[in-house]
Amino acid sequence: MRNNYHIPKDSQGQELIYFAGHSLGLQPKTVQHIVDRELLQWANSGVEGHFDSENAWYTYHERMRGPLSKLVGSTTHEVAALNSLTVNLNLLLTTFYRPTNKRYKILVEEHLFASDFYALEQQVRLHGLSVKECIEFIPWPKENKGFPLESIKHTIDDLGESLALILLPGVQYINGQCFPMKEIVEAGHSVGSVVGFDLAHAIGNIEMNLHEWQVDFACWCSYKYLNSGPGGPGGIFVHENHLNKDLPQMAGWWGNDPNGRFTMKKTFVPVSNADRFQMSNPSILALAAHEASLAEFDKTTMQDLRKEAKSLTDLAFKGFENLNIDIITPSEWDKRGNQLSIELNNAIEIHKALRAEGIICDLRDKNILRLAFCPMYNKPEEIALLLERLEELIR
Ligand SMILES: Cc1ncc(COP(=O)(O)O)c(C=O)c1O
Repeated sequence: MRNNYHIPKDSQGQELIYFAGHSLGLQPKTVQHIVDRELLQWANSGVEGHFDSENAWYTYHERMRGPLSKLVGSTTHEVAALNSLTVNLNLLLTTFYRPTNKRYKILVEEHLFASDFYALEQQVRLHGLSVKECIEFIPWPKENKGFPLESIKHTIDDLGESLALILLPGVQYINGQCFPMKEIVEAGHSVGSVVGFDLAHAIGNIEMNLHEWQVDFACWCSYKYLNSGPGGPGGIFVHENHLNKDLPQMAGWWGNDPNGRFTMKKTFVPVSNADRFQMSNPSILALAAHEASLAEFDKTTMQDLRKEAKSLTDLAFKGFENLNIDIITPSEWDKRGNQLSIELNNAIEIHKALRAEGIICDLRDKNILRLAFCPMYNKPEEIALLLERLEELIR
């Protein structure tokens, strides 16, 4: 599939070695054509492009449902492409964080993405509650080898009926660990809590079955493993258990029944699917790029991508071990995806030296390098080169 992507080049025209798919995925070659198609539609038909075209903009977002539902393991009416991750998280928290006198706590992990914390913190404040009393943290694992399920379950049990909401990552962004979502949902539901996930680093990376696992809600971005471009459309999953209810929610005309959308009546009639969370009409140009990138996933399956990812990450994992590099991503295959994170004393210098040699990865917290080995465009030869360079640099 590598040929289907634009591989960035250096000033000499040499392809870079790109291990930053966990940050910004590469551009599928089809994107330009599909975005151009919509630009042309706009140029040639103006407002009529909303309805009078093969790709009518009025229903354009619906095209994302099929591919997204396959990626997260859901029905098509449980997913929607809209807004961006943090906006969606705020929308979903407004609906799903409904604290009472007895049940008001939120459980997160210690190093959750700061944007998620800001959203949670402000939601707590909107309810007039104390952030200190409401937000509980699962501490970062001492041995740096991933959060053990048992300690997550213990914390959930300890918090018991005070727990209103659990928000955890599908894949943790620093160490690349896959969280056992099914088991976390079971534990959360057993004490009556709502369970949601931030899937920024999970979608397009690992296999998921959100519907079957009874996940209440999830949100994601599309610019990492989904390769939909910088600031590409976010997405949500809301379990069908909730969709037909009279939910308290943020609302706008695009979440209203499409048949009555233009009647301008002062009654919000939510669509009976995840589209009810749409507020505004979406950016068609951003959705066009998203559509093109999702089509690449439709040419394969997550199962096949996972197989490919295993062989790439195993190769890198063994290579790092041979070089005695400290790997903070769990070693077990079912606990990791495409990203491996390594800890090095002189990570800043190594990161710089790798970049100078055309190898792109990212630096976190001064001593961690994060590298994603994306089955869609990375190849074993690139990993061999990385290991060679690392060996020279750490010697
Ligand atoms: C784990 C995680 N959550 C949330 C975000 C925020 O995404 P957005 O800027 O789309 O709101 C990111 C962005 O990289 C992320 O990695």
